[in-house]
Order: sequence, then structure tokens, then C-alpha cells
Amino acid sequence: MKILAIETSCDETAISLLDINGPLNRPDIKVLGNALMSQAKLHEKYGGVYPNLAKREHQKNLPILLEQVLLKAQNLPALPTGRQAARQGPNLEASDIDYVAVTKGPGLEPALWTGIVFAQELGKKWNRPVIPVDHMEGHIFSVLYNLSNTECLTLPALALLVSGGHTELVNVKGFGNYEIIGKTRDDAVGEAFDKVARMLGLTYPGGPKISLMAQKSRQNRAKIDIELPRPMIHSKDLDFSFSGLKTAVLYRVKAQNNELSEEFKEDMARAFEDSAIETLVTKTEKAIEKLGSTNIKTLIIGGGVSANTYLSQELKKMLEKYPEINFYIPTKDMSTDNAIMIGISAFIKLETNPDSINNQIEIKAQGNLSLTSS
Ligand code: KG4
Ligand code: ZN
Repeated sequence: MKILAIETSCDETAISLLDINGPLNRPDIKVLGNALMSQAKLHEKYGGVYPNLAKREHQKNLPILLEQVLLKAQNLPALPTGRQAARQGPNLEASDIDYVAVTKGPGLEPALWTGIVFAQELGKKWNRPVIPVDHMEGHIFSVLYNLSNTECLTLPALALLVSGGHTELVNVKGFGNYEIIGKTRDDAVGEAFDKVARMLGLTYPGGPKISLMAQKSRQNRAKIDIELPRPMIHSKDLDFSFSGLKTAVLYRVKAQNNELSEEFKEDMARAFEDSAIETLVTKTEKAIEKLGSTNIKTLIIGGGVSANTYLSQELKKMLEKYPEINFYIPTKDMSTDNAIMIGISAFIKLETNPDSINNQIEIKAQGNLSLTSS
């Protein structure tokens, strides 16, 4: 089936056209067209994503991306810049698209609405159903895109979702059947990476920059003399907390009286990353123990922070104790927000709960949508 998927939950505008078929645990996914525009540079000066600016940019980008995707899918050359016919709105013909899919949440509501309104216009124009998708389900199953011919995703799985807005441990009992077994009580881990980056004078999004600096410190110095707390690491539950860690960094930075040497920044980035990653890995192991290692067939990480190589490296080390558990990490392109994962999630909904689509009347943006209610 052919699904045109739209993603506008945060600062990436993305549209993909997928031809997706086959079994859920190893679908055959052909990307007929895929286009993405990141607004990260525009939000840099705000130190995070500014919702109304994101909304305006999505509105501007969506028709342009749609045109790019449809031209690519029809093997037609891109139009020269400035001549985009789609500037008049979504008026291109789409001969054989079966469904339109769109992120309904979680995310920034003004940003989500732009995608939903655009998807509904297309659905009406093409007379096709519009499938609302949970962005976090997309992050879980983005790993399906890179399965090799010999692999298939075995459930139940444990998913560690780590992004700018979320830090969650999810028991993925089956496709469409999720239980959140742990989550952050305050900041998301990606948000903590971004805030610490800002304290060190690095621009948004800070995660990759912190990670690079930490790597330099590990290469150049065997040891550092900064020790940061690991909040809630010993708590019995599977919850996380990152705001205390962030505040600890702030105090150490302030104590430097704004004289931050490169060496201090690298060591602080490393101390922060050590602490955040150790917490994530410890709680993930606790979750495996709680659910029973023989009940968990697969560990998946998803969301922007899953691009962190130190995290995947430390998770791999921890998993040496559990050789029977498969481990899947999305590729870098699939770890941050994209529309391919939204198309995959729509496919899962179509296969597991087709009635919910036929009965869909109106779609509302849900900024705080939770995986257990979507
Ligand atoms: O999933 P995502 O693209 O958007 C949300 O849904 O939030 O995640 C973005 C987050 C940002 O906080 C960014 O700093 C973080 O992912 N991130 C990283 C890395 N790459 C992106 N954090 C740590 N290490 C990285 N390599
Ligand atoms: Zn995301």
C-alpha cells in the first residue's frame, strides 16, 4: 500500500511517500519520495524550539516538500527554485496514493496543527483516509526500516525512547500494545543535553556537540576531576530525573566565573554524558530484570538521543550479560524526526486496527499524547 506521511511535531518538516507491504515484523518498505527541512538553525538563537516560528516555517515548507516528493515518486526532475507550482497549495495530482498519515502528537500543538490541517486538505482533495499517528510509536519502529533480509523484529521488546521531549521505557508487548513502565519526572534527557550545551556556550541542538566534546575529553585525558550526581539511579522504580543533574552542571559552570576553557568544557560535557548515559543504561537493565530477560526478545532505542554513540556503546556492553536479547538502533537519519517512521507507524495501525481508521472523523493535535492512549 502507498502511504504519504507527514511529520511536523517539532522543528523538522518532513514528508515521505512509502510503498509498504508484507509482515509487520519485517515489512518491505520502498521509499518512493522523501523530503525533509530542518529548522534547527532558525531556532538556534532561542536555545530551543520556538513554537510559533516552527508553525510558520512548517506552513511554508509543506507545499514545497510535497511537490519534491511527488515529483521524485513520478521520476520527474525537480523544478528550479522559485518555480515551485506547489506554492499555491497542495494541488498536485497523486494518482495512486492509498492513505495520508500525519503525526497527531506528542509535540508542539501549533506545529502539529499545521501538519494535520495540511493532511486533511490532501485527504479531502484525493478522497483518501487520513491516519493519525503517535510520534513515539514512530520512534520505536523506525528500526524496521533498516532490517536486513535475514532479520525480523521479535516482540515483546523493551524500548528506550530518548528525545528532546521524552525519556521513557516502554514494554512493547505487541504491535499496537504498549505499556510505559518508566519515564522522566522532570526534564527529558535530550532537553538536558540541550540545556547543558547552552550553559557551555554551544548552540541548539546541543546533543551532538556535547557528545563530540565528551569524546575529545576521553581521547585526551584518562581521568577528569568533575563528578556529577546520577539522580534516581538507585530508586526502585524505572523513572528518571535529569533536572538535578542539569542544576549541578550550572553550579559548576557558575563557579568558573564565566571563564570556560576548552578543556573545562570538554571535561564537563564528558562528566554530564557519563552521568546521563549511566542512568539510562542502569534503568534499562533494571527494566530487563523486572520484566524478566527471557520475556524480552529485543531491546530498541529510539528518538534523537539514540544517535549518541556512547549510549549505544554502553548499552551493548550491558547487553553482554543478556546474549539472547537482540539490539536494534536506528541509523542516524532515522533516529531524529522524519516522516518515514510516521508512514511505518501508520502501516502498523492499518494492519492491527483497521476499524479505527474507517471510523476516524476528525483529528486533533494532542501535545501530550501518551503511547498508552493513542
Ligand atoms: O527525536 P528528536 O529529533 O526530536 C524530538 O522529538 O524531540 O530528538 C531531538 C533531541 C535533541 O534534544 C538533540 O539534542 C538530541 O535529540 N540529540 C542528541 C544527539 N543527537 C541528537 N543527544 C545526544 N547525543 C547525540 N548524538
Ligand atoms: Zn521525535
